[in-house]
Amino acid sequence: MKTLVTCGLPYANGPCHIGHLRTYIPADVYVRYLRMLGKDVVFVCGSDTHGTPIVINAEERNMTPKELIKIYHRHFKEIFEKMSIEFDYYGSTDDYSNHHRTQEIVLELIRNGYVYSKTIPLAYCPVCDRFLPDRYVEGTCPYCGMEARGDECDQGCGRHLEPGEILNPRCKIDGAKAEYREQEHYFFRLSSFKEFLLRYLEDLKGTENALNYAREWVKRELKDWCISRNLDWGVKFPGRDDMVVYVWVDAPIGYISFTEEYAKRTGINWEEIWKEKSEIVHFIGLDIVYHHCIFWPAMLKGAGYTLPSAVVASGMVKIQDKTFSKSRGYVVWVEDDYLKEGFHPDYLRYYLVNYTSHQKDLNFSWKIFEDKVNNELVNTLGNFMYRVLHFTWKNFGRIPEVSVSSEIIKKIEEARKNVIESIESYEFKEASDAVMELASFGNSYFQHNKPWELIKSNLEKCQQVIKDCLQIVKALTILFYPVMPSSMKEIGDIIGIDTTSLKIEDVQVEISPLKLSRPSVPFKKIEKEKIIEMQEKLIRRIEKMGNTDTQEYVTLEDFQKMNIRIGKIIAAERIKGSSKLLKLEVDIGDEKRQIVAGFATSYRPEELIGELVPILVNMKPAKLMGVESQGMILAADVNGKPVLLKTEKEVPTGSIVR
Ligand code: MSP
Ligand code: ZN
Repeated sequence: MKTLVTCGLPYANGPCHIGHLRTYIPADVYVRYLRMLGKDVVFVCGSDTHGTPIVINAEERNMTPKELIKIYHRHFKEIFEKMSIEFDYYGSTDDYSNHHRTQEIVLELIRNGYVYSKTIPLAYCPVCDRFLPDRYVEGTCPYCGMEARGDECDQGCGRHLEPGEILNPRCKIDGAKAEYREQEHYFFRLSSFKEFLLRYLEDLKGTENALNYAREWVKRELKDWCISRNLDWGVKFPGRDDMVVYVWVDAPIGYISFTEEYAKRTGINWEEIWKEKSEIVHFIGLDIVYHHCIFWPAMLKGAGYTLPSAVVASGMVKIQDKTFSKSRGYVVWVEDDYLKEGFHPDYLRYYLVNYTSHQKDLNFSWKIFEDKVNNELVNTLGNFMYRVLHFTWKNFGRIPEVSVSSEIIKKIEEARKNVIESIESYEFKEASDAVMELASFGNSYFQHNKPWELIKSNLEKCQQVIKDCLQIVKALTILFYPVMPSSMKEIGDIIGIDTTSLKIEDVQVEISPLKLSRPSVPFKKIEKEKIIEMQEKLIRRIEKMGNTDTQEYVTLEDFQKMNIRIGKIIAAERIKGSSKLLKLEVDIGDEKRQIVAGFATSYRPEELIGELVPILVNMKPAKLMGVESQGMILAADVNGKPVLLKTEKEVPTGSIVR
């Protein structure tokens, strides 16, 4: 039986951010594990190209929607490739096959009596002289009273809003007060699927968060869904030239049409997946549970297609503990803030999988990122792998021919079992924790047995310890491959493992006695400076968006904790290996201090001598690039470059600033 895994389709309406990746990376990890477990998996996704936000965005940018979606379709494909997210097929909902499949399904729903037409009052803009579908209208949510846009209460209760529901409607384009006018529209009889959904949701697998929400919604009430819209852009409503289907109809149908396209290319039969018994697993974020657990299965049922077997929903990504928001600057762009800054894709893959349970909200901050990379990947995993490989290469040149001890076989077996169990329950953090634990065990095993001493005193024992450690390295490579495919491939190349066709049982197959090539360090430490730079970039963006909520009030008492004094710079020199930092000596009246400051991008050392500057003298001492800094010089930040602050006239060193 085939397994189909899909991911919530990204809107081809803007660049990829790390919120998106919380759907795609765990899904990619899951698919790679399933394949290691011997399952026959098809993994598809594609761009969601319809809907009013895309039309509005294209209008604002003076392009056609087709031109706009082309840009972002390509962008997402590129990002997925760079992040090692490997779909078997990545399509577009604007492809012919999706138009075709959507019309087929809508016609089938009509034939089966699940679609009816009704005349309803709709928001109409007298200035634009047109109906205002979805995002073209703004107003008040009838459920919670918050500001809402079109089809969704995005700032309040999160409810899906039907056409005509929004209160006090205004036109998004010109702000004019909209009036209501009658028009005939088409409705999907969602309400008649209540009994079916109650039963279906009992058996549906996936994460509890999604299932619990969905079960509650179904118990309360199911409203019929309006599935037609007054728009040109989209999939034409069958028999109506003046209307398209609602984007949430043709978007999930992409899961089917992409499978069809994949099948066409590989010669498999798509109906084996969508018309017969199969496993269909949808990965999504918690924001689109309603569409996937309620609307979508009802549509499939009504048109006679195979129903999804699991919906795996991640919690939302937050930035520095704040709700993700592009418009308020709380966003991390995958290209501009991550890949272009030179960070390794595997580091972010590890973070997104390992930071917390898949169901919980995930907080991203650069500080935590630094911590996870430097402590877990570099100090625990990388350190162990490198030590073992380097020791073997240097002392033996090849992998010793002794058998692995039973204690180690048991340890590896434990890790393998834990990983399988966790993956089957969509607990990706637990899976990766189990692997990381094996790495920690390896580190203490190496440390405890001291092979560097054994090599002189007991060669046989030394070979045994090293062989054990090498087997652990092999197990780690295999078990971590789904999470960090490119780093583990590099290790695999050194120890003779072909990562293109891994099986999970291979962790117990004894590592072959081959000759080793010189190993390199698998993970590189991230410099503190780089993290500070990234944090500042994020804060600048948030502030530029006009947020003052990054700043909390301080009391006079708080302020008085700071001991700021005027000091004179008396010596300055560059710090080796840093393009930004200078080592300064300052006179603060009764003593001299050594301070490290990021002034090298704006000033030459000699320019600074004799300057009087404000200094926070009770700043906690810290080491920067190995040099102690005993205070902080205050300066203006102009686009990331420091500009000195000077007193208006000469003052004695040590003068208090308050
Ligand atoms: N186009 C719809 C999905 C249609 S599926 C038939 C959509 N697109 S999206 O671009 O907004 O989101 C794509 C995926 O990323 C979805 O699975 C969504 O849940 C996920 N995320 C987008 N932003 C997110 C966060 N800030 N946090 C976690 N996941 C979120 O929704
Ligand atoms: Zn609301």
